[in-house]
Amino acid sequence: MKKRVAILISGRGSNMTALIEAAKAHDYPAEIALVVSNRPDAAGLERARSSGIPTAVIDHTLFGSDRATFEQLLDKELRDHGIDLVCLAGFMRLLTPWFVNRWSGRMLNIHPSLLPQFKGLDTHRRALEAGVKRHGTTVHFVVPEMDAGPIVAQDSIAVHASDTEETLAVRVLELEHQIYPRALRAVAEGRTTV
Ligand code: GRF
Repeated sequence: MKKRVAILISGRGSNMTALIEAAKAHDYPAEIALVVSNRPDAAGLERARSSGIPTAVIDHTLFGSDRATFEQLLDKELRDHGIDLVCLAGFMRLLTPWFVNRWSGRMLNIHPSLLPQFKGLDTHRRALEAGVKRHGTTVHFVVPEMDAGPIVAQDSIAVHASDTEETLAVRVLELEHQIYPRALRAVAEGRTTV
């Protein structure tokens, strides 16, 4: 049985698209059963719809500071769709320990740095400022602490003297599109667990 996967997005959804494409392979152990966005205008929603994937919008702005109600609705949406695994893909909402613990060991995130270096935002700028020779991306299980969970997969590129935030972003994103489908495969097949 293929694992039923939900992808949570807030924006363009290029990692979501990479996962959707990978999941088209007959031998891929997961199917993308749902895409949820917390922003009604996320460009990725249209991409998901055009691939025939059910979508849902849970607009966090309607709940103000009430994270609990937002997350209860999100949790219900996932359960109503029989979701086994959740992939965060550019989902720009911090999740509370309540939600994270409900999906513990079953929720992945992709982050544009070689964790534990450069948690948080502006990773490419900070990598350049730090003068690192290699930079990359990490897929990890989500735990309550941000960008801190057990690592499933990483890959890296060489940083060149001529690199800018923009050139790094392009090369790291290419890596992300390769490692996220590989990492999800490993987790869906039960080869990688916490
Ligand atoms: C990626 O760089 C990912 O690592 C980070 O947010 C970005 C999402 O890009 N978490 P996209 O929406 O998948 O194109």
